[in-house]
Amino acid sequence: MHSNVGIPFFSAFNIDEDLEWQMSRAEKYCFINLLEHIRPNAAIEIGTYKGGSLQVLNHFSNNVYSIDISNAPARFLSDKFPNVNFRIGESHTTITKVFKEIELAGLTLDFILVDGDHTTKAVQQDLLAILAYPHKHPITIILHDSFNPQSRRGIKSINYKAYPSVAYVELDYITGSFWHNNTYREMWGGFALIKIDPFNTKPLVYMASQEHLFQRAYWSSLHLIKDPFHFLVPLKQAIFRRLGIKQRIDIYDEF
Ligand SMILES: C[S@@+](CC[C@H](N)C(=O)[O-])C[C@H]1O[C@@H](n2cnc3c(N)ncnc32)[C@H](O)[C@@H]1O
Repeated sequence: MHSNVGIPFFSAFNIDEDLEWQMSRAEKYCFINLLEHIRPNAAIEIGTYKGGSLQVLNHFSNNVYSIDISNAPARFLSDKFPNVNFRIGESHTTITKVFKEIELAGLTLDFILVDGDHTTKAVQQDLLAILAYPHKHPITIILHDSFNPQSRRGIKSINYKAYPSVAYVELDYITGSFWHNNTYREMWGGFALIKIDPFNTKPLVYMASQEHLFQRAYWSSLHLIKDPFHFLVPLKQAIFRRLGIKQRIDIYDEF
């Protein structure tokens, strides 16, 4: 069964097919439309991979900062995107430096895409780093893979009420997918949307509009069995590397 939720994709936006874009059709339409609407003065992307989403950010933003733990995006995409500022490093530490850089340059940060490490702790660390900074302007944040149980746990773990500037949180701004692109019984994709507004005076609006769908999928998913053993992943990776066996995660370094 062919189950790719991202291609083919028909749009007025001139997509560069060479740049693999790891999002579903619904996410792509949403991403293009949001960026066209916001037209950021400055935008940050955590997690660039082959530049699929970066091409949209680059098109609609005046200034773009890409943060990736791998140096592969900078190596392969610098020529194609000479105006993008590539930063290599762990996202939750690098992003604070980028915030300061943007402020020092007198730019306005309008948009952040969080699409790096999707484990609970990493998503939580990214969000805490973003929320801890004293932003001076409203920011729209998209978190990709909010339908993935680990990632969703990270997004849910934050006490948003402790941050008065957080005006809006929707875990299912765009709903994710179940068992697609050959991910056996796994849940991926989905956009959570968070709006930060330093001038906000209203109570927080918090939504998880597809929580029922999430729960239905979760109880039929492999995550039930797989995620409790996630702590063994570094050991498995070390063993596989030693034996020279390729893993799914290796695609992010070797392209
Ligand atoms: C899912 S891909 C990004 C896909 C891309 N945004 C798109 O739409 O096609 C995830 C990327 O995050 C990077 N990454 C993983 N962990 C990270 C971390 N802790 N900090 C920064 N980048 C990370 C990976 O190297 C990879 O390039």
